[in-house]
Amino acid sequence: MMESRIIHKLEPIISEVKKKTGINIQNFKDSFLERRILHRMCDVGISDYEEYVKLISTNFNEAGSLYDSFSINVTKFFRDPHVWKKFEYEIMPNFCDSNRSSSILAWSCGSSTGEETHSLAILLNESLNKQIKYRVFGTDINDNAIVNAKKGIYKKENLLHVSEQQLATYFEKLNDNQFQVKPIIKNKIEYEKSDMMKTSRKLFDIIFCRNVLIYYDKNVHEIIFKKFFDLLKKDGVLVLGQDESMIGTKNRNYFNLLYPRERIYQKKN
Ligand SMILES: C[S@@+](CC[C@H](N)C(=O)[O-])C[C@H]1O[C@@H](n2cnc3c(N)ncnc32)[C@H](O)[C@@H]1O
Repeated sequence: MMESRIIHKLEPIISEVKKKTGINIQNFKDSFLERRILHRMCDVGISDYEEYVKLISTNFNEAGSLYDSFSINVTKFFRDPHVWKKFEYEIMPNFCDSNRSSSILAWSCGSSTGEETHSLAILLNESLNKQIKYRVFGTDINDNAIVNAKKGIYKKENLLHVSEQQLATYFEKLNDNQFQVKPIIKNKIEYEKSDMMKTSRKLFDIIFCRNVLIYYDKNVHEIIFKKFFDLLKKDGVLVLGQDESMIGTKNRNYFNLLYPRERIYQKKN
């Protein structure tokens, strides 16, 4: 629940954004909401909430720009390498049994600029037997992030945890500081601009939803964990970010916590 002090200040802004875009930004954590609104007000040179409400109600683009500012795109290839290693050595062998499935579908929910979708595709490409097909589905609410993910061009500093061998195999060097993911990996990935609360069309073996839920309220966590349960296949695996967990939620009962440190969960059957 939003503190009444904060809601009192922010309610007119929340309601203007809803009117203009149809999006309910109240789902975000109150502290995050307040920080981003103040940040945006500073960007447009306004220090007074009422004046900012006037700007949103009169300027056609401002509600959309404010909403875009809620999308924090910081990401990396193989972010938190120990999580990826655990996933590779402890989880992937279960997917290598071709009796289990002839194809694997992974979802990067909140895929940002594509580092996570590409990391997943590389991992699947390297770990699965060749007769098992795989696809990766990336979704994000941010248009620009999706456009950049599709380009698949990255600076060296984003590729810190990519091995020399992976760099040589899966990337084309464009210049001294830029590398582009090769079609062998890019072609395995499909992107869609969509809000995780609304994504519903597939059944997944693997869901990575990392560093997305930290920005949302507990009530959103409840809804999304139930949704992940519904969208995972039998024995499907969910990976959260290092600062995220199911602790304190009712819907944790839908999952077994396989590796607490790595935040790796498995759907209960
Ligand atoms: C900090 S990035 C995390 C990227 C990647 N998952 C990682 O861990 O490195 C968070 C991403 O989640 C996206 N996001 C936030 N809310 C979302 C929502 N409701 N549905 C889909 N994506 C969302 C943001 O636009 C942003 O690109």
